[in-house]
Amino acid sequence: MSLYALLKSKGPTGFGYGSTAEDVTAGLSLVGKTILVTGCNSGLGFESMRVLAARGAHVIGTARTEAKAREAATKVGGKVTGLACELADPASVRACVAAVQKLGVPLDAVIANAGIMALPKLNQAFGYELQFFTNHIGHFILVTGLLDRLSDDGRVVMLSSAAHLMAPKEGIQFDNLSGERGYKGWTAYGQSKIANLLFAKELARRFIGSKRTANAVHPGVINTNLGRHMSIPAIIGKIGYGIADALFLKTVGQGASTECYVAVNPAAATVSGQYWADNNVAKPRPDAEDPALAAKLWEVSEKIVAGLA
Ligand SMILES: NC(=O)c1ccc[n+]([C@@H]2O[C@H](COP(=O)([O-])OP(=O)(O)OC[C@H]3O[C@@H](n4cnc5c(N)ncnc54)[C@H](OP(=O)(O)O)[C@@H]3O)[C@@H](O)[C@H]2O)c1
Repeated sequence: MSLYALLKSKGPTGFGYGSTAEDVTAGLSLVGKTILVTGCNSGLGFESMRVLAARGAHVIGTARTEAKAREAATKVGGKVTGLACELADPASVRACVAAVQKLGVPLDAVIANAGIMALPKLNQAFGYELQFFTNHIGHFILVTGLLDRLSDDGRVVMLSSAAHLMAPKEGIQFDNLSGERGYKGWTAYGQSKIANLLFAKELARRFIGSKRTANAVHPGVINTNLGRHMSIPAIIGKIGYGIADALFLKTVGQGASTECYVAVNPAAATVSGQYWADNNVAKPRPDAEDPALAAKLWEVSEKIVAGLA
């Protein structure tokens, strides 16, 4: 497909690859809505916070430190609250949950956006491989801790990735969550991203019978700080884009669109348990939709979190 055709392509939602966060929220008033975005100081999180605040939402933006969150908040006009949430530190995540509880506002959406990618060497937190711990366990503590604040029709959006295709063949290596029985940076990233997908799947199952939704998103391939451990051609090569497509990387505005669409567009209000890419429902690899695997990950995650107390 030519670049022009790619940018102009649209799916059933009326949006597509080239749509930006501003496009998918155009004409919406989010006044009176409160939306929490993790990783608000950089890349897609910052852009999502900026656009959602511009549409009138109260955005609770979290970053590793309060200083970073507040600095990001000051760069964005509108109603923005900056909070600390270091996902690799359960005490910080729990303090964030408590701070949100204290604000006393219902959450209309939680966008679990923060993440780290393809660390070249094994790093751990509390004995667990760091990408699994940060991208999945940190968000597991945060989102489950905030469920009683989620409004009756609230939406949870998990940032996954097409890189979930690089997860181990068994999906999650439950016998190697430490990474000590073998570590490859991309495989571990893939595992953390299939975990984000499976978490959304199981949460959606738990939401059945309510108007709440949970979905997972692949934002596209965007040159953000995420690639700090890799060169961009290496990232593109890994994610399966041809060299020519290096020219077709999404802008940050295009990359932030799908998470914003799923979080606030009225047309997405009743869609749950899905994987989205380019602002439309997409198909992940089959085991990312396996309810038994999703349930097992939830159960194991609960045990991990209980053991961190
Ligand atoms: N960019 C892409 O091509 C792409 C493709 C597929 C999926 N994604 C996903 O999209 C999401 C956003 O990525 P991005 O491209 O915007 O990357 P980014 O610019 O690197 O932003 C990532 C954000 O996550 C935060 N973060 C990292 N580790 C954290 C921790 N331990 N605790 C709390 N926050 C932490 C970062 O904070 P610091 O700045 O303080 O490190 C930053 O705010 C990620 O989940 C990523 O996996 C991105």
